Amino acid sequence: MNFKNGSIILALILFASCGKSIDTFKPGQLWLDNNGVHINAHGGGFIFVNDTYYWFGEHKTEGEAGNRANVGVHCYSSKDLYNWKDEGIALSVSEDSTSLIVKGCIIERPKVIYNAKNKQFVMWFHHELKGKGYDAAMTGVAVSDKITGPYSYIKSVNPNKGIWPMNFPDSLKTLNSDLDKFKKWSKEWNNEMAKGAILKRDFERGQMARDMTLFVDDDGIAYHIHSSEENTTLHIAELTDDYLDFTSKYVRALVIKNNEAPAVFKKGEKYYMISSGLSGWKPNAARSAIADHPLGPWKELGNPSRGTKEEVEKTFNSQSTYILPIQGKQDSYIFMGDRWTPENAIDGRYIWLPIEFEDDKPIIKWQDQWKIN
Ligand code: GAL
Repeated sequence: MNFKNGSIILALILFASCGKSIDTFKPGQLWLDNNGVHINAHGGGFIFVNDTYYWFGEHKTEGEAGNRANVGVHCYSSKDLYNWKDEGIALSVSEDSTSLIVKGCIIERPKVIYNAKNKQFVMWFHHELKGKGYDAAMTGVAVSDKITGPYSYIKSVNPNKGIWPMNFPDSLKTLNSDLDKFKKWSKEWNNEMAKGAILKRDFERGQMARDMTLFVDDDGIAYHIHSSEENTTLHIAELTDDYLDFTSKYVRALVIKNNEAPAVFKKGEKYYMISSGLSGWKPNAARSAIADHPLGPWKELGNPSRGTKEEVEKTFNSQSTYILPIQGKQDSYIFMGDRWTPENAIDGRYIWLPIEFEDDKPIIKWQDQWKIN
């Protein structure tokens, strides 16, 4: 093949992969954007604005080091949920070593919501400080007037400093907990944790916030839902009306049930949550829960996955990140999960599956490929 023919063939291949419109979801397969590149938006969050869906997620790079934030939060847009256009980096990490979002820190599970009061898009994300592993357990916030960014970083916090959860009884506030006396995860240790040992430890500094999501209710009130107390207990916290801070109204939910990766949606008058257990990048069995109000109380509904033992125990080799209501289709939701590949972070895949309902329970089943109908 001479150079001229080779160039023509390459151009044809690129044209074919870029121009090809997709009309099917293929969970776990490479998913090419409008430039023919595998979508790079892990731990994603979604928002629908003016007939368009926007997908925000962790931009990963190659290798194990690619799990850290070397670039920032990537944004894509789509009219049909199958075909995604690269909108570039919405929040960039900083080259300035004094910035908390310096390149090499950890930015995970970014979620964007629209604040009507300030006409601003607000992004929250799980934030860990460079070189400190997962110790900081903070949540960070950034804003932009334009959906695709650039987002300006405001701050990161350990939320609810000096404030007790609304559902934490007075009798436990003064109780001394000595966690060191007990073996981690033992019954006695769990008991101390349930009585708020970590909550009390972090009372002065502010609470831990690791895996997180946002949920905006029909009344416009936004909630920040995060794994706290060393990932043993979820905290569900109300945001202020500009969505930039915490109101101090928060609850402990699913206490000592060890939930990560929370994803919340509303169907009718009920609120649902799908989450995971704690096994890092490795998949585990998903859980589901139901409530009459975002602040709970939340009642466990069990594992939402149906299929083979392996599928049910490993959530189809994925971990929840978001549940998307499909626009214009009542009671239609997509379960969105990540199939992490920590040894080569950039290769992580997306597991999107339709949610079915068995009575009041959300159910997920594997499909090699499927369409919205
Ligand atoms: C998972 C979590 C991910 C990431 C990972 C790091 O449990 O859901 O977002 O933090 O741990 O090991």
